[in-house]
Amino acid sequence: MNKSEATASRLSLSNRALGLSAPGTSSMRSKANALKESGVKVINFAAGELSFDACQDMRTGAIEAIENARNRYTPPIGLPALREKLAQRVSQRTGVTFAANEVAVTAGAKQALYNACMVLLNPGDEVIVPSPYWETFPTQIRLAGATPVLVPTRDDDYRLTLEAVQGALSERTRMIVINTPNNPTGTVYQRQQLLAIAQLAFERGLWVMFDECYRGLVREPHEHHNILALFPALKAQTVLIDSFSKSQAVTGWRVGYACAPAPVIAAMHNLQGHTTSNPSSLSQYAALNTLNADSTQFADQVNPFLQRQLHAARTYLDRLEGIRYAPPEGAFYLYIDIASRLGGYYRGQPIRDVDHLADLLLTEAHIAVVPGSGCGDPHCIRISYAVEYQELIEGLSRFAQFMSAIVMD
Ligand SMILES: Cc1ncc(COP(=O)(O)O)c(C=O)c1O
Repeated sequence: MNKSEATASRLSLSNRALGLSAPGTSSMRSKANALKESGVKVINFAAGELSFDACQDMRTGAIEAIENARNRYTPPIGLPALREKLAQRVSQRTGVTFAANEVAVTAGAKQALYNACMVLLNPGDEVIVPSPYWETFPTQIRLAGATPVLVPTRDDDYRLTLEAVQGALSERTRMIVINTPNNPTGTVYQRQQLLAIAQLAFERGLWVMFDECYRGLVREPHEHHNILALFPALKAQTVLIDSFSKSQAVTGWRVGYACAPAPVIAAMHNLQGHTTSNPSSLSQYAALNTLNADSTQFADQVNPFLQRQLHAARTYLDRLEGIRYAPPEGAFYLYIDIASRLGGYYRGQPIRDVDHLADLLLTEAHIAVVPGSGCGDPHCIRISYAVEYQELIEGLSRFAQFMSAIVMD
């Protein structure tokens, strides 16, 4: 062992870092990229973003911000004008009044979620997380020292029910996470379900972390419901999480926000002030410009596109025997149950598990998908249908061929 290796082995990583693994989507992305670099045409169904260029109002706002030299720090949790505008907008759409000091602008919704976990959770606290889950939820809860309590939703059309929450409650429960429209399943929570959970959270004095980042992306005839619009009295116990990433096709710009009681936002201000400081000033001006423009043009373009894509995708999937999927009501994901093919053989190779199936889909059919293992689910894969139409058709026909070639014993 040389000197630097000896030093490295003495100075090991923190327990916190040792408990972290790379996001499942990033490992699939790097495998897919490696294959692409070797000249293979890979269809990427694993991305969590629209294939559209950024919404025009975001682009105009960012360009103007550059031209007007908006280069300096802003307050850590955002421009006062943006917080004010967001408060107005959230008040309008929920019917519950929010003030600017109840809004924090963050580097994407991910930072809003992380900061909320860090300022609300203590070691020993339990947080109810519907499973399958977007893997950042349990990871951030653990980073805050708390424990995610994973509640299966597969038998309830992938939505958390009141009974399931009641079954998971303990003396230590401090928070419930709800994400609708849902990643990874694409389901949208129904009014009655949300209302029932809101009532329970209210009575038990629990926090609700309500992630509605995909709220603008809903398939007809479904409707997104905001938990506070249904149950305004829960305001003092709710953190609303939203983002510009998905709905405006600006995942890389990193701008999202949280709405919560003022003391929670003040604590998030302190945390953000000592960690990242403000989200990019350019992205904030872009967001402000988009809110001021108040145009539905982008959503009017994206949603019909997604509706057509989903229709096309379903015609492929519905022909495959034994393949079911979660009700695809929102976001842009199809969450496909492939349990009937596990244990089968592809060209003589036994398919061990969902990760192996995802690997074979990549190496044999050249399609990148997200295996459910990263979402706590060994039965499913997630595909995004927000890709170019030709890619969708080609990828799904490869998928159908692959699935049909699996031989069961
Ligand atoms: C449910 C959910 N919440 C939050 C995020 C994070 O979004 P942002 O890009 O705004 O950080 C994602 C991203 O995939 C998501 O799926």
